[in-house]
Amino acid sequence: MRYGILADIHANLPALEAAVGVLQRRGVDRFLVAGDLVGYGPFPNECIALVRELDATCIAGNHDLIALGHLSDARCIPLARDTLTWTRAVLRDDAIDYLAKLPRTVLVDGRIVVAHGSLDDPRDYVTRPKDARRELDWMHETWPGAQILVLGHTHRVRVWDYSGARRRKFRRTMPIPPESLLLNPGAVGQSRGLRPLAHCVLLDFDAGEASFYAMNYALATCKRALAQANLPPDACHLRPSLQRRLRRIMRRNVRRFRTSLARFC
Ligand SMILES: [Fe+2]
Repeated sequence: MRYGILADIHANLPALEAAVGVLQRRGVDRFLVAGDLVGYGPFPNECIALVRELDATCIAGNHDLIALGHLSDARCIPLARDTLTWTRAVLRDDAIDYLAKLPRTVLVDGRIVVAHGSLDDPRDYVTRPKDARRELDWMHETWPGAQILVLGHTHRVRVWDYSGARRRKFRRTMPIPPESLLLNPGAVGQSRGLRPLAHCVLLDFDAGEASFYAMNYALATCKRALAQANLPPDACHLRPSLQRRLRRIMRRNVRRFRTSLARFC
Protein backbone atom coordinates (compact mmCIF):
# COMPACT_ATOMS: atom_id res chain seq x y z
CA MET A 1 0.00 0.00 0.00
CA ARG A 2 1.30 3.44 -0.96
CA TYR A 3 0.07 6.53 0.87
CA GLY A 4 0.57 10.06 -0.39
CA ILE A 5 0.95 12.32 2.65
CA LEU A 6 0.04 16.00 2.36
CA ALA A 7 -0.35 18.73 4.99
CA ASP A 8 -0.84 22.49 5.19
CA ILE A 9 -2.11 23.00 1.65
CA HIS A 10 -3.25 26.52 2.58
CA ALA A 11 -5.35 27.17 -0.51
CA ASN A 12 -2.33 27.05 -2.81
CA LEU A 13 -3.67 25.20 -5.86
CA PRO A 14 -0.50 25.27 -8.03
CA ALA A 15 1.50 23.76 -5.13
CA LEU A 16 -1.18 21.14 -4.48
CA GLU A 17 -1.33 20.16 -8.16
CA ALA A 18 2.46 19.80 -8.27
CA ALA A 19 2.55 17.59 -5.16
CA VAL A 20 -0.40 15.45 -6.29
CA GLY A 21 1.21 15.05 -9.73
CA VAL A 22 4.47 13.75 -8.24
CA LEU A 23 2.65 11.32 -5.94
CA GLN A 24 0.28 10.07 -8.64
CA ARG A 25 3.20 9.36 -10.98
CA ARG A 26 4.60 7.14 -8.21
CA GLY A 27 1.39 5.13 -8.01
CA VAL A 28 -0.20 6.33 -4.76
CA ASP A 29 -3.18 4.20 -3.63
CA ARG A 30 -4.55 6.61 -1.06
CA PHE A 31 -4.03 10.25 -0.12
CA LEU A 32 -3.92 11.39 3.51
CA VAL A 33 -4.17 15.10 4.36
CA ALA A 34 -3.11 16.37 7.80
CA GLY A 35 -5.26 19.52 7.77
CA ASP A 36 -5.07 23.24 6.94
CA LEU A 37 -6.67 23.12 3.52
CA VAL A 38 -7.44 26.83 3.68
CA GLY A 39 -5.97 30.08 5.00
CA TYR A 40 -3.17 32.24 3.51
CA GLY A 41 -3.78 31.21 -0.13
CA PRO A 42 -6.17 32.41 -2.87
CA PHE A 43 -7.72 29.06 -3.96
CA PRO A 44 -9.67 27.63 -0.96
CA ASN A 45 -12.65 26.28 -2.94
CA GLU A 46 -10.45 24.83 -5.68
CA CYS A 47 -8.14 23.06 -3.20
CA ILE A 48 -11.07 21.55 -1.31
CA ALA A 49 -12.58 20.40 -4.63
CA LEU A 50 -9.31 18.68 -5.61
CA VAL A 51 -8.93 16.99 -2.21
CA ARG A 52 -12.52 15.70 -2.54
CA GLU A 53 -11.84 14.51 -6.09
CA LEU A 54 -8.85 12.52 -4.80
CA ASP A 55 -11.13 10.93 -2.20
CA ALA A 56 -8.42 11.79 0.32
CA THR A 57 -8.71 10.95 3.98
CA CYS A 58 -8.51 14.35 5.58
CA ILE A 59 -8.64 15.90 9.04
CA ALA A 60 -9.29 19.51 10.10
CA GLY A 61 -6.41 21.87 10.86
CA ASN A 62 -6.59 24.99 12.98
CA HIS A 63 -7.07 27.23 9.92
CA ASP A 64 -9.99 25.10 8.71
CA LEU A 65 -11.62 25.33 12.15
CA ILE A 66 -11.04 29.10 12.36
CA ALA A 67 -12.55 29.55 8.87
CA LEU A 68 -15.64 27.71 10.13
CA GLY A 69 -15.78 29.82 13.28
CA HIS A 70 -15.16 26.71 15.45
CA LEU A 71 -11.87 28.05 16.80
CA SER A 72 -10.77 31.54 17.80
CA ASP A 73 -8.21 33.41 15.68
CA ALA A 74 -6.72 35.02 18.81
CA ARG A 75 -3.44 33.12 18.45
CA CYS A 76 -3.06 33.95 14.72
CA ILE A 77 -0.50 36.30 13.23
CA PRO A 78 -2.10 39.28 11.40
CA LEU A 79 -1.45 37.70 7.98
CA ALA A 80 -3.32 34.54 8.98
CA ARG A 81 -6.19 36.54 10.46
CA ASP A 82 -6.56 38.75 7.37
CA THR A 83 -6.44 35.88 4.87
CA LEU A 84 -8.92 33.85 6.96
CA THR A 85 -11.34 36.79 6.97
CA TRP A 86 -11.10 36.80 3.17
CA THR A 87 -11.44 32.99 3.07
CA ARG A 88 -14.65 33.06 5.12
CA ALA A 89 -16.13 35.53 2.65
CA VAL A 90 -15.41 33.43 -0.45
CA LEU A 91 -15.93 29.85 0.79
CA ARG A 92 -18.77 28.13 -1.09
CA ASP A 93 -21.48 26.18 0.78
CA ASP A 94 -20.22 22.80 -0.47
CA ALA A 95 -16.70 23.66 0.72
CA ILE A 96 -18.02 24.72 4.15
CA ASP A 97 -20.00 21.44 4.37
CA TYR A 98 -16.87 19.47 3.56
CA LEU A 99 -14.74 21.27 6.16
CA ALA A 100 -17.47 20.97 8.80
CA LYS A 101 -17.52 17.17 8.45
CA LEU A 102 -13.78 16.68 8.89
CA PRO A 103 -12.68 14.87 12.06
CA ARG A 104 -9.76 16.20 14.11
CA THR A 105 -8.00 12.84 14.25
CA VAL A 106 -8.31 9.70 12.16
CA LEU A 107 -6.91 6.15 12.23
CA VAL A 108 -6.14 4.81 8.74
CA ASP A 109 -6.01 1.05 8.03
CA GLY A 110 -5.19 0.38 11.69
CA ARG A 111 -1.60 1.62 11.32
CA ILE A 112 -1.47 5.36 10.55
CA VAL A 113 -2.92 8.08 12.78
CA VAL A 114 -3.37 11.53 11.25
CA ALA A 115 -3.84 14.74 13.26
CA HIS A 116 -2.85 18.38 12.74
CA GLY A 117 -0.88 20.03 15.59
CA SER A 118 -0.94 17.29 18.21
CA LEU A 119 -3.35 14.49 19.14
CA ASP A 120 -4.88 16.85 21.68
CA ASP A 121 -5.01 20.25 20.01
CA PRO A 122 -4.65 21.35 16.35
CA ARG A 123 -2.89 24.51 17.57
CA ASP A 124 -0.03 22.70 19.37
CA TYR A 125 3.45 22.64 17.84
CA VAL A 126 5.37 19.39 18.20
CA THR A 127 8.98 20.51 17.87
CA ARG A 128 10.83 19.01 20.86
CA PRO A 129 11.89 15.40 21.49
CA LYS A 130 9.82 15.13 24.67
CA ASP A 131 6.70 16.34 22.80
CA ALA A 132 7.28 13.79 20.03
CA ARG A 133 7.72 11.01 22.58
CA ARG A 134 4.55 12.08 24.44
CA GLU A 135 2.53 12.03 21.20
CA LEU A 136 3.83 8.57 20.26
CA ASP A 137 3.07 7.24 23.76
CA TRP A 138 -0.41 8.66 23.51
CA MET A 139 -0.89 7.08 20.09
CA HIS A 140 0.13 3.66 21.45
CA GLU A 141 -2.26 3.99 24.38
CA THR A 142 -5.19 5.01 22.20
CA TRP A 143 -4.51 2.89 19.09
CA PRO A 144 -2.23 0.01 20.20
CA GLY A 145 -1.69 -1.30 16.64
CA ALA A 146 -0.76 2.04 15.09
CA GLN A 147 2.79 2.55 13.85
CA ILE A 148 2.98 5.95 12.14
CA LEU A 149 1.74 9.26 13.51
CA VAL A 150 1.36 11.98 10.87
CA LEU A 151 1.21 15.58 12.10
CA GLY A 152 1.38 18.89 10.23
CA HIS A 153 1.10 22.48 11.48
CA THR A 154 4.81 23.36 11.85
CA HIS A 155 5.29 23.55 8.05
CA ARG A 156 8.64 21.82 8.53
CA VAL A 157 9.70 18.34 7.44
CA ARG A 158 10.47 16.34 10.57
CA VAL A 159 10.84 12.68 11.52
CA TRP A 160 11.04 11.49 15.13
CA ASP A 161 11.85 8.02 16.46
CA TYR A 162 9.94 6.35 19.23
CA SER A 163 12.86 7.24 21.51
CA GLY A 164 12.00 10.89 20.81
CA ALA A 165 15.21 11.35 18.82
CA ARG A 166 14.91 13.38 15.66
CA ARG A 167 16.02 11.58 12.51
CA ARG A 168 18.37 13.91 10.68
CA LYS A 169 20.53 11.78 8.47
CA PHE A 170 18.22 11.08 5.58
CA ARG A 171 17.89 13.05 2.39
CA ARG A 172 15.25 11.73 0.06
CA THR A 173 14.36 8.24 1.26
CA MET A 174 14.52 6.39 4.56
CA PRO A 175 13.39 2.90 5.57
CA ILE A 176 10.19 2.66 7.62
CA PRO A 177 11.40 1.19 10.95
CA PRO A 178 9.43 -1.61 12.65
CA GLU A 179 8.92 0.58 15.73
CA SER A 180 6.76 3.70 15.62
CA LEU A 181 7.55 6.98 13.94
CA LEU A 182 6.22 10.52 14.04
CA LEU A 183 6.31 12.11 10.62
CA ASN A 184 5.63 15.67 9.53
CA PRO A 185 5.66 16.00 5.72
CA GLY A 186 6.18 19.79 5.74
CA ALA A 187 3.79 22.18 4.01
CA VAL A 188 2.39 21.80 0.53
CA GLY A 189 1.25 25.37 0.17
CA GLN A 190 3.23 27.65 2.44
CA SER A 191 6.91 26.94 2.69
CA ARG A 192 8.75 28.49 5.64
CA GLY A 193 12.18 27.59 4.31
CA LEU A 194 14.53 29.69 2.21
CA ARG A 195 12.93 28.54 -1.05
CA PRO A 196 9.19 28.45 -1.85
CA LEU A 197 8.84 24.70 -2.41
CA ALA A 198 5.87 22.33 -2.12
CA HIS A 199 6.53 19.36 0.18
CA CYS A 200 4.96 15.91 0.36
CA VAL A 201 5.81 12.35 1.39
CA LEU A 202 5.24 8.96 -0.16
CA LEU A 203 4.81 6.28 2.50
CA ASP A 204 5.35 3.01 0.66
CA PHE A 205 4.69 -0.03 2.86
CA ASP A 206 5.34 -2.40 -0.07
CA ALA A 207 8.90 -1.13 -0.44
CA GLY A 208 9.21 -0.43 3.32
CA GLU A 209 10.35 3.17 2.80
CA ALA A 210 9.28 6.78 3.14
CA SER A 211 10.28 9.21 0.38
CA PHE A 212 10.36 12.97 0.89
CA TYR A 213 9.77 15.39 -1.98
CA ALA A 214 10.30 19.15 -2.23
CA MET A 215 9.42 20.69 -5.59
CA ASN A 216 9.06 23.94 -7.45
CA TYR A 217 5.57 24.88 -8.59
CA ALA A 218 3.86 27.73 -10.46
CA LEU A 219 4.59 30.29 -7.77
CA ALA A 220 3.86 33.25 -10.09
CA THR A 221 0.31 31.95 -10.67
CA CYS A 222 -0.31 31.82 -6.94
CA LYS A 223 1.15 35.29 -6.34
CA ARG A 224 -0.93 36.73 -9.19
CA ALA A 225 -4.12 35.26 -7.72
CA LEU A 226 -3.20 36.62 -4.28
CA ALA A 227 -2.71 40.09 -5.73
CA GLN A 228 -6.03 39.87 -7.61
CA ALA A 229 -7.74 38.98 -4.33
CA ASN A 230 -6.06 41.97 -2.66
CA LEU A 231 -4.08 39.64 -0.41
CA PRO A 232 -0.32 40.01 0.22
CA PRO A 233 1.49 38.25 -2.67
CA ASP A 234 4.02 36.79 -0.22
CA ALA A 235 1.36 34.96 1.80
CA CYS A 236 2.34 31.70 0.08
CA HIS A 237 5.92 31.80 1.39
CA LEU A 238 7.03 32.90 4.85
CA ARG A 239 10.78 33.21 4.50
CA PRO A 240 12.60 32.73 7.83
CA SER A 241 13.99 35.94 9.33
CA LEU A 242 17.76 36.56 9.39
CA GLN A 243 17.69 36.15 13.16
CA ARG A 244 16.06 32.75 12.86
CA ARG A 245 18.51 31.65 10.16
CA LEU A 246 21.48 32.68 12.29
CA ARG A 247 20.03 30.83 15.28
CA ARG A 248 19.66 27.71 13.17
CA ILE A 249 23.24 27.93 11.88
CA MET A 250 24.52 28.36 15.45
CA ARG A 251 22.52 25.37 16.69
CA ARG A 252 23.84 23.23 13.82
CA ASN A 253 27.44 24.21 14.55
CA VAL A 254 27.05 23.50 18.27
CA ARG A 255 25.63 20.08 17.41
CA ARG A 256 28.53 19.33 15.06
CA PHE A 257 31.05 20.47 17.66
CA ARG A 258 29.49 18.21 20.32
CA THR A 259 29.48 15.23 17.94
CA SER A 260 33.16 15.67 17.04
CA LEU A 261 34.04 16.21 20.71
CA ALA A 262 32.26 12.97 21.66
CA ARG A 263 34.18 11.13 18.94
CA PHE A 264 37.47 12.62 20.05
CA CYS A 265 36.86 11.72 23.71
FE1 LIG B 1 -0.65 25.46 8.57
